[in-house]
Amino acid sequence: MRVLLLGSGGREHAIAWALARSPRLSRLWTAPGNPGTADFGENLPGVPIADPEAVAELARTLRPDLVVIGPEDPLGAGVADRLVVEGMRVFGPTQAAAEIESSKTFAKELMSRAGIATARARSFEEPSAARAHLRDLARGGDGAAGVVVKADGLAAGKGVTVCDTLAEAEAAVDLAFAGAFGAAGDRVLIEQRLRGRETSAHAFTDGVSVVHMPFSCDHKPAFDGNRGPNTGGMGCYSPPGWLEPGDAGRIQREVTERAVARLAEEGRPFRGVLFPGMMVTEEGPRVVEFNSRFGDPEAEVLLPRLRTDLLEVCEAVTSNRLSELDVEWDERATVGVMMASPGYPGDYPRGAEITGVDAVDADVHVFFAGAERAGGGRLVTAGGRVLCVVATGDTLGEARTRVYDNVARITFDGAHYRRDIALDAGPGAAT
Ligand code: AMP
Ligand code: GLY
Repeated sequence: MRVLLLGSGGREHAIAWALARSPRLSRLWTAPGNPGTADFGENLPGVPIADPEAVAELARTLRPDLVVIGPEDPLGAGVADRLVVEGMRVFGPTQAAAEIESSKTFAKELMSRAGIATARARSFEEPSAARAHLRDLARGGDGAAGVVVKADGLAAGKGVTVCDTLAEAEAAVDLAFAGAFGAAGDRVLIEQRLRGRETSAHAFTDGVSVVHMPFSCDHKPAFDGNRGPNTGGMGCYSPPGWLEPGDAGRIQREVTERAVARLAEEGRPFRGVLFPGMMVTEEGPRVVEFNSRFGDPEAEVLLPRLRTDLLEVCEAVTSNRLSELDVEWDERATVGVMMASPGYPGDYPRGAEITGVDAVDADVHVFFAGAERAGGGRLVTAGGRVLCVVATGDTLGEARTRVYDNVARITFDGAHYRRDIALDAGPGAAT
């Protein structure tokens, strides 16, 4: 099979690696790709992958048997719909189904119609009304200490501010309406702040059948102890030893399966990976957000645990035959540590030479994100999150020890990574 993969992150390197394990993969193109995806096929740099016409033209030229869409931007822009018009087989939801991620207001309304538990929220198109609502909340005792301000649309993970004070909340509202997140901030959600532990629930779905993946946990803040600004994700582990089976089952049945069923009933069948981000609170699991694709770095720790051929899963999803497939997972645990450029998520330098990647253990993965090949094939930094090192172990503790042992072999100027990934992950035994 000939496959075109869209994206350039650690997630797409992990997807390319998983696809390349299939004996049936005959050719892989990745647009734009990174040095990791280049190991499995041809990179196509410079393709504007969120432009449906440009992707359709590329697909007409290449004639792939399958297109796999990694990131949210092309999904939100309707790239899948455009490719379907071209007669392509596409792994990734239509624009209408992807609205569960691309519009937080749509997601909230869908959850309300489907009876899915989430944080209370109101959406605003006027700064004055949003500020008045904040002051009401502050007077109500719950306090503005308990709010999260979110740009409605896709903002590359940057449109969310968890606020401790009324002043912070007001500043976040002003920032969003001032255009800090582009059109994504034309509408702003003010949401109740949830307290608890976060976990990522991923599932494959063909719009009807749902195959749940193991749970995983991302670490969003930049620094140890969950301090500092939120990032795209500094590390991840799977499975969470702390997650109670009862809560896991409720998330699968009362969140993921309800959302899939409701989207289908509303004429927006979802085909691809549905990923509810969950907060497990004292009152039970609550949805923080829905995503319409694999998480990054969640994909990096989940795909090494997938035993079934990913190409077969993609085929089953795109031909509505997911119920016929037995999807198997490795019992062992995985821990992934993201190595980032100094200064990330703020400004950071580029072009620092990366060394030691070849020194990692044979079964340890180095998934590239913000990295590129410079003159002479030298590997250099080219982004905030540079690479993700992933190790496997019989227990989370063993995977954790192994991943840090390997991270220590890789260097670049100012490399920053968290030392506490999976440190509080719970009982060691993988489930
Ligand atoms: P999102 O982009 O919606 O995933 O939000 C980014 C991060 O902000 C989440 O992973 C949470 O850590 C935090 N967050 C978002 N919404 C809430 C909420 N209602 N309560 C507490 N934290 C939240
Ligand atoms: N790691 C969270 C996300 O990809 O949205």
